[in-house]
Amino acid sequence: MKLNILSCAFVLAASGMSGVHAEDTAAMTDFVRGNGCFSCHSATEKIVGPSFQSISSKYAADKDAVPTLAQSIKNGSTGKWGSRVAMPPHQNISNEDLTKLAKWVLSQKP
Ligand code: HEC
Repeated sequence: MKLNILSCAFVLAASGMSGVHAEDTAAMTDFVRGNGCFSCHSATEKIVGPSFQSISSKYAADKDAVPTLAQSIKNGSTGKWGSRVAMPPHQNISNEDLTKLAKWVLSQKP
């Protein structure tokens, strides 16, 4: 599993689809996984929550996207995505890490 995610990040970086260094992308992916986000989200497919790419597209033109998404991750979110399921709050994540997560989500482009 770890190897798959790592090699995926390297492939993305190698194909020039990512502006971020491969190590950073892989480390960030590990970080997101460590916070349990991938149990409900994937980069491309709707699972329980919307895909990270559709979140990124929806907020692409929103200049307050980083603080908005950081707050959603921290306090949970419901009703924004037409799902009957809510995202639970993640109160244990520091503000610095919330900002990192929000930026990472916004960097997920198809
Ligand atoms: C238990 C399932 C679950 C987990 C775990 C989860 N999410 Fe979500 N997430 C959702 C659902 C469902 C939504 C849609 C909520 C809505 O409709 O407002 C969502 C929405 C979002 C949004 C969009 C919020 C908005 O304001 O539009 C972001 C960003 C997000 N999640 C990031 C994360 C990150 C980062 C993590 C890990 C720290 C995470 N999620 C963990 C289920 C989850």
